[in-house]
Amino acid sequence: MCGIIGFTGELDAKNVLLEGLESLEYRGYDSAGIAYFNDDGIHTIKTTGKVSSLREKVEAAPKFHSTCGIGHTRWATHGGVSDTNSHPHTFGKVTLIHNGIIENYHDLETKLAAEGKYPVSQTDTEIAAMLIDHLYQGNPMKALKEAIKYLEGAYAFCVLFADKPGVIYCLRNGSPLVACHCEKGSIIASDMVALIKYSKEYFVLPEQHIAVLTKDQITVYDINDKVVSPKMLYVNWDLSAAMKGGYPHFMLKEIHEQPEALRSTIIPRVRKGNLPDLSGDGLPHTIIDSINRIIITACGTAMHAGLIGKVMFERLLRIPVTVEIASEFRYQNPIMDNNTLVITISQSGETADTLAALRLAKTSHAKTLSIVNVKGSSIARESDYVLYTHAGPEIAVASTKAYTAQLSCLYLLAFSFALEKGKVTEEECSKEMEGLLQIIPAIEKALTFDVLAKDISKNLKDCEDLFFIGRGLDYALSCEGSIKLKEISYIHSEAYAAGELKHGTLSLVTEGTPVIALATQSNVYSKMISNIREVRARGAMVILITNGNVTVDSSIYDYHFALPHLSDDFAPFTAAVVLQLLAYYTSVHRGLDVDQPRNLAKSVTVE
Ligand code: M6R
Repeated sequence: MCGIIGFTGELDAKNVLLEGLESLEYRGYDSAGIAYFNDDGIHTIKTTGKVSSLREKVEAAPKFHSTCGIGHTRWATHGGVSDTNSHPHTFGKVTLIHNGIIENYHDLETKLAAEGKYPVSQTDTEIAAMLIDHLYQGNPMKALKEAIKYLEGAYAFCVLFADKPGVIYCLRNGSPLVACHCEKGSIIASDMVALIKYSKEYFVLPEQHIAVLTKDQITVYDINDKVVSPKMLYVNWDLSAAMKGGYPHFMLKEIHEQPEALRSTIIPRVRKGNLPDLSGDGLPHTIIDSINRIIITACGTAMHAGLIGKVMFERLLRIPVTVEIASEFRYQNPIMDNNTLVITISQSGETADTLAALRLAKTSHAKTLSIVNVKGSSIARESDYVLYTHAGPEIAVASTKAYTAQLSCLYLLAFSFALEKGKVTEEECSKEMEGLLQIIPAIEKALTFDVLAKDISKNLKDCEDLFFIGRGLDYALSCEGSIKLKEISYIHSEAYAAGELKHGTLSLVTEGTPVIALATQSNVYSKMISNIREVRARGAMVILITNGNVTVDSSIYDYHFALPHLSDDFAPFTAAVVLQLLAYYTSVHRGLDVDQPRNLAKSVTVE
């Protein structure tokens, strides 16, 4: 949540900051602002609305030439959306931007009020600016280190001190910051997408460390003032991956990038004989040996990937698996010990609840393994083991390619664990792996449903409620189909286990209610068809999705997607593509902001 950027160097800061904010906008987009050093001190321009509104305001401002500044795009937590509440916030000599939440801001506000200091905004961030200014006596490092003692919560700050022109001070505790120094200067941001134009090499600012950016270098200090050299990381994608590349929206581009994302995630992990090999990821194959219980914990779409993982793990390993919503899990006093494997799944690797769930698992001595897309992110760094999805940057708020890449990692783990545990022979495992490899061309074919999905979704655009129904893997996938549609089309939908409908919810199905029915699993196929008949008899408009071109009574559906045939276990991959396309086009037909839906942000770094 919230995007942060800071630059000092030889380039025009205005361009670096505005372009950076445009690339970070998916992290929060209710207001934006910049602050920069000019000959006569620090200037701030901020506004509600998108970065495009900020750009207009900046272009209209009296000409400035600055080579050092900070920028912020906001997702409001404390205080409504207003110009005053937008960042940067200035108090005294301090101007700062912030990503995170200062949990004890109210106590701090009371203490500062006793000193006669009052904020003008309703934000927790301004209180942080006031506190740092209060502690500042000419030594920024000292003030920031002191501030750590008072501040509770998560924060990443970029701070300008009025009497230190050309220098940016950054402090991190919980919220991400990545940085690089290049030929033209030093740059820091919440996310690598804002840095990629300048460098493929970067480092993650470690927790509770301070980075001091000047045009010539970045120096990183630990809490004892010791200079440290953070590990350099490298991204294997380039600027084009973070641009729309001719697509009208990032979401559509990312849907179409799935074959490539899956190729990059799966192929390097296949060894001779078509067997899974996770040794390149540093995963000892013995990791599963003493495990008698698996807990998968994550949020949103990543949690839905876990629901599919559960089915696969239980089927192949015969070990009990539970899937826990991370925000619930962290407060439930869950049962774990050193024979438990806790798998956390996260695209961003920074989701606050998932990170807290991981930390909780570690306190119980459970083994921890994460499936993460963003290299060097907090969840990746803090897990015992990490399996990266190589999906490339995912910019649209709605997760698509990250989801299928997460599924592929879960399948790789399931096959590799099953082999290690002797639950499958090498021959059987190799056959499963063949199935996994077949999903790549199958997804390519499923993408040709683009036109049909566009057409069919015209029938969804005006509805108020709809249902996704399925059984087994199809039910797990229905949950994902439902959230995808909800978040970008604002249409209410529910995912239902098809057999459960008649225990209450069927009363909501009336003439014309759209029902998206997934019937890809042969073991429950006939049961599913009966459930479809039940909704059909109540007048439902049925969109049927089957695995292959099965013969099906055409009176039970209005529209039919016959997916390229795969063995049942792999059907969620192709069916997911169709659900993504339906959600995407429904949002487009409704004229909504597909990539940046209301009230949401890509990376949920607050609780
Ligand atoms: O970065 P993460 O994968 O941890 O994010 C988890 C959820 O916030 C995320 O999947 C969210 O549900 C998506 N917007 C759904 O498309």
